[in-house]
Amino acid sequence: MITDPILLFDAWFTEARASEPNDANAMAVASVGADGQPSSRMVLLKGHDARGFVFYTNLESRKAGELIGNPRAALLFHWKSLRRQVRIEGAVGRVSDAEGDAYFASRSRDSQLGAWASDQSRPLDARETFEARYAEMTVRFADGPVPRPPHWSGFRVAPERIEFWQDRAHRLHERRLFVAQDGGGWSEGLLYP
Ligand SMILES: Cc1cc2nc3c(=O)[nH]c(=O)nc-3n(C[C@H](O)[C@H](O)[C@H](O)COP(=O)(O)O)c2cc1C
Repeated sequence: MITDPILLFDAWFTEARASEPNDANAMAVASVGADGQPSSRMVLLKGHDARGFVFYTNLESRKAGELIGNPRAALLFHWKSLRRQVRIEGAVGRVSDAEGDAYFASRSRDSQLGAWASDQSRPLDARETFEARYAEMTVRFADGPVPRPPHWSGFRVAPERIEFWQDRAHRLHERRLFVAQDGGGWSEGLLYP
């Protein structure tokens, strides 16, 4: 049995990529605003290791504002075809500029131009305005490389709690909770479902 939660996540994620019809890396990220109001939205996991779980976004978006103001987040994966859930909670930090640049460079040109064109989370008067901004970006960058916008980068959630939920017969579901220990390492226990 795997007793390291990062390795267990790897194993489940590998199975999810093989079983889910699409976006096995989709996860909900929950943040809390200055007024105490939680909000959540889906993002795509773009990297993970012992340091944490990384996603990319617009740094002027609602989520980014909330995560900068209150740098704690909850992540949630639900792999429906496997009937599994993983819950992750922890502190949030920005990825390095070099890491952001490297990931941005790996994206399709359309996605790169879209990152420049979108004022994510701000009101948009009409779809045409967005399309016109996108068209402006295709002209602005012409055939040259598209650099990472200064307002676009990644966040890393450093896990402090990771819970693995597995559907079992007769609703006797299994929950394994791992809690990070101060000196390093993890404690592990079961929870009633
Ligand atoms: C499956 C899926 C994946 C998504 N992935 C991302 C992502 O990686 N980064 C991102 O900024 N938004 C992503 N979105 C859009 C977000 O859910 C959200 O609409 C957007 O980031 C604005 O959120 P905010 O206003 O709370 O900041 C995704 C949406 C879906 C449904």
